[in-house]
Amino acid sequence: TTVYIPRDSSALSLGAERVASALQAEAAQRNIAINVVRNGSRGMYWLEPLIEVATPDGRIAYGPVNVGDVAGLFEAGFLQGHPHPLCQGPTDAIPYLKKQERLTFARVGITDPVSLDDYLAHEGYRGLRRALDLAPAAIVDEVTQSGLRGRGGAAFPTGIKWRTVLNTPAEQKYIVCNADEGDSGTFSDRMIMEGDPFVLIEGMTIAGLAVGATQGYIYLRVEYPHAHRALNEAIQAAYQAGYLGRDILGSGKAFDLEVRVGAGAYVCGEETSLLESLEGKRGLVRFKPPLPAIKGLFGQPTIINNVISLASIPIILDKGGDYYRDFGMGRSRGTLPIQLAGNLKHPGLVEKAFGVTLREILYDYGGGSATGRPIRAVQVGGPLGAYLPESQFDTPLDYEAFAALWAVLGHGGVVAFDDSVDMSKMARYGMEFCAVESCGKCTPCRIGSTRGVEVIDKVTHGVERDKNLKLLRDLCDTMLNGSLCALGGMTPYPVLSALNHFPEDFGASATEKA
Ligand code: NAI
Ligand code: SF4
Repeated sequence: TTVYIPRDSSALSLGAERVASALQAEAAQRNIAINVVRNGSRGMYWLEPLIEVATPDGRIAYGPVNVGDVAGLFEAGFLQGHPHPLCQGPTDAIPYLKKQERLTFARVGITDPVSLDDYLAHEGYRGLRRALDLAPAAIVDEVTQSGLRGRGGAAFPTGIKWRTVLNTPAEQKYIVCNADEGDSGTFSDRMIMEGDPFVLIEGMTIAGLAVGATQGYIYLRVEYPHAHRALNEAIQAAYQAGYLGRDILGSGKAFDLEVRVGAGAYVCGEETSLLESLEGKRGLVRFKPPLPAIKGLFGQPTIINNVISLASIPIILDKGGDYYRDFGMGRSRGTLPIQLAGNLKHPGLVEKAFGVTLREILYDYGGGSATGRPIRAVQVGGPLGAYLPESQFDTPLDYEAFAALWAVLGHGGVVAFDDSVDMSKMARYGMEFCAVESCGKCTPCRIGSTRGVEVIDKVTHGVERDKNLKLLRDLCDTMLNGSLCALGGMTPYPVLSALNHFPEDFGASATEKA
C-alpha cells in the first residue's frame, strides 16, 4: 500500500517527519509492507500533517495526524481506507480542493516532487517537448497569447517582457528566477519549489529556448532550505536524463541551471537589487532604465520572472495560450495561487481563476476567522499591500478591480485580521517594516520611513494630532512619488489605507481626509 506524507516545510513544522517515522515503525511492528511517498502539500494547512492512502477508489485523506494517532489508524484499517475520526474522505472530494482550478499547482501534493518518472507520468515536460519544435518567436507568441502577467506582484505582461529580451541581440542572455519570496503571508513559490520543482525547471528551460538564453539562475531566499534541497535533487535528475545541459533531449540546444542562495534581505526580492546580489555585490537597487530585459545580469539581456510566472509556462506551452487565457476575467487571465493566512480557520493555498471575490476566498475557503470573531480588515498583496475593510470584500480578485480601490493583488497573499486589531498599530508596522528593510539608496524611503514611525506615534499619542496627520499624508505622498523602488513607493498603501478605512483607530480627527 502506498501512503503519502508531505515533505512540505509547513507539514514538517507540524510534525510530518515524526508521523512518517511512527508510521514506518508501526507498519514494521505489524509486519505490514507500506510504501511511503513524501509528496508536496495539498495546501490545506489546518489538516497537516495530512496522510493519504492510495486505494482502488482513489486517495483517502486522514488529518491532522499526530504521532499518538498512528496506532489507532492501523487499528481502524486506514490502509484499506476505512473510517476513523480523522478521515476526511476521498482527497479530491474535499470541497476546498474540489472547487479550485489547479493549473500551475496541478501536480502539487499528487506526485513525488523529486521523481522525474512521476513528473513525466503526470504530463510533465510536454511543454518543453513542444517548445523544442517551435521557433523562439513562436514560443513568445504562445506566452503573449495566454495573457499571463507577472505573478510576483507587478502584473507586467510576461510575453512583452520576453519579446524585449528576444529582440535584444547579445552573446549571452540569462533567465533569472526570483525565488526571494519575502512578502509576509505568502508561500506559493515555496510550495511549488518543494512540491513540484520540475515545473519551475521546465518553465525556465522553455524561457531559455524562447529568447536564446543558455544559463539560468534561481535566486532562492536563505529561509527556504527544504526548497533548496528539492530543487537541487530535481535539477540533478533533469541533468541526468538530458532535460538540462548542453544538448537538451538531443536537440543541440543548451540550458544550464543552478540555484543561488540569498542572505536574507527583503529588498533583494526587488529585481535590480536581486541582480546585484547575484553578481556578488551588496543588494542595492539600481536605477531603471535600463530595464533588466535590456541590461540585466552582468549587463546582459535577462528575463527575470517570479517562480509562479515561470511555473505557469509549461501548461501554457502544453495546452496552448488560448487554454490558459480561457480562465480569468478582464485583463487578468488564467489563475492566481492565493495564499490564505492570518486569522482564518482554514489557512492554505487556493488556486482559482481571477474573478473569485475576496469574500468567497475568506469565507467559502478560509472558513471565516479562526477566533470566530468578525473579520475586520484584510491585507492583500504582502506587507506593502493595502488593507481592505468589510465593505470591499465583494471585490473580485482582478488586478484592475484592486487598482480601482487603490489596492494591489500583488503576489496573492491574503492576511485576515479580526475586530481585535488596532489599525494604527498596523500602519505603524508598515512604516517600521520599511525602515528595517530599506536599502538606503533614496531619501524618501530611508529617512521617510523612520520619520513616519515617529509621526504615527505622535498621532496615536494625541500630540498635535491634526498637524501630524497632515504631515503623515504629506510624507506618504513624497514616499509614493519620490522613492526609487516599490519598497518605499508602496509603504503608503498599508499606512494610508489603514488611516482612510479605519480612522477611528487613529483618534477622532483622523476622519478628515487630505
Ligand atoms: P515594475 O512595474 O517596475 O516592473 C515589473 C516588471 O516588468 C519588471 O520586471 C520590469 O523590469 C518589467 N518591465 C517593465 N517595463 C518593461 C518593458 N517595457 N519591457 C520589458 N520589461 C519591462 O514593478 P517592480 O518594482 O518590479 O515590482 C513591484 C511589485 O513587486 C509590487 O507590485 C509588489 O506587489 C511586488 N512585490 C512582491 C514581493 C514578493 O515577495 N513576491 C515582495 C515585494 C514586492
Ligand atoms: Fe532602497 Fe527604499 Fe529607495 Fe527602494 S525605495 S531604492 S529600498 S531606499
